[in-house]
Amino acid sequence: MKVMSPEFDASRVAALTDQQLDWRYKGIPASWWGRTPAQVCAAASDPFDDGAVGPLCVLRESALAHNLDTMADWCREHGVELAPHGKTHMAPQLLTRQLDAGACAVTVATVSQVRTYRAFGVRDVVLANEVVDDAGVVWLGRELDADPDFGLVCWVDSVRGVELMTAALAAAGVHRQLDVCVEVGMAGGRTGCRGADAVDAVARAAADSERLRLMGVAGYEAVGGHDVTPDGYAGVRTYLRELRAAVTRLAGLFEADEVVLTAGGSTYFDAVADELTGGWPAGLPVRTILRSGCYLTHDDGLYRRTSPLHGPAGLRPALTVWAQVVSRPEPDLALLTMGRRDVSFDADLPVPYGLADSRVTKLNDQHAYLRLGIADRDRGEVGSWLEFGISHPCTVFDKWQLIPVLDDDGRVVDLIRTFF
Ligand SMILES: Cc1ncc(COP(=O)(O)O)c(C=O)c1O
Repeated sequence: MKVMSPEFDASRVAALTDQQLDWRYKGIPASWWGRTPAQVCAAASDPFDDGAVGPLCVLRESALAHNLDTMADWCREHGVELAPHGKTHMAPQLLTRQLDAGACAVTVATVSQVRTYRAFGVRDVVLANEVVDDAGVVWLGRELDADPDFGLVCWVDSVRGVELMTAALAAAGVHRQLDVCVEVGMAGGRTGCRGADAVDAVARAAADSERLRLMGVAGYEAVGGHDVTPDGYAGVRTYLRELRAAVTRLAGLFEADEVVLTAGGSTYFDAVADELTGGWPAGLPVRTILRSGCYLTHDDGLYRRTSPLHGPAGLRPALTVWAQVVSRPEPDLALLTMGRRDVSFDADLPVPYGLADSRVTKLNDQHAYLRLGIADRDRGEVGSWLEFGISHPCTVFDKWQLIPVLDDDGRVVDLIRTFF
């Protein structure tokens, strides 16, 4: 019996907790410099008591644990696997928790992101793109040859792409085949073959290539946006049925024992499970793999509005940014030490916690403009701290290299490193 290698190298991930903290991590107390994350956690430090300076991004442990369990249970109940998108956080420590909770692989978008996770010994990777640069293809091929346990599947959406990959692998003398899924696109969408004929031609080219192994079908249903109205869902379901049809049509071409079928971010995964599980032709084993990333921290904006896992038992926002009021130049205006360098603004502006009728109306690089409603005018004194919910975790994580994880008493239980 083959003994599977571990899903990641626990010692390399754990080593992060022994690297000394210093000035390069914004927001953290200067009293933490020279100490390791392990020491800071052992002291059950409160970052604000210890001298954090605004802004400071934090994660909430209870929400993280809840979201990990909730999503893992949901996937089990709905017959789908999860390869969470690692570009969301680029944090091996968070990925290991997702793998421990049952995730089958990490998803990434680029070869550089593969390299980051491979540096932590991550075994199974979905690269959700065609790889068109020879250097990237060859690096992947050599990595596959060097480690028989390394499993990677990437996508192809053009015959030209198949040819480029095939030629690069052949020229480099790579022995192992590169596993690929044919990507089904959406009219007006992003990458992916448009129409069944194009899908079939690319699939055939991949199956014919001695250097590639055709594993299945891939797609991403949220390229058109996150419209959760009945019309939005109807469009997504129509698209997902194209993926199902492709799997059935191409059944004779797949080159492994199980077919990989992957779709699903953090908005429409209910429709993915509905449309893409069960009902396959006899003798066609299909693994349906979601790639949700934002479910892990959820948020107070885009995903609060669109996640299928809402309500009291649903996902909880785990990622917030604290900032200090630095100026109150007008009665209804507070300026905070938090700007576009610190918090996402691509989906919505940050949402203040604990205020009745105030909202952020604008961000500069280093400032937020908080318009205070009548009920909040006596709040937000200069120097006070306010906590903000965020919208779209991906574009918050990339602004922080170190994020404290706090328990419900505000004590640090972990410090998460990111690698963007
Ligand atoms: C191809 C692909 N798969 C999965 C995801 C993850 O979706 P989400 O960010 O909603 O979790 C993304 C996000 O952009 C994506 O581009």
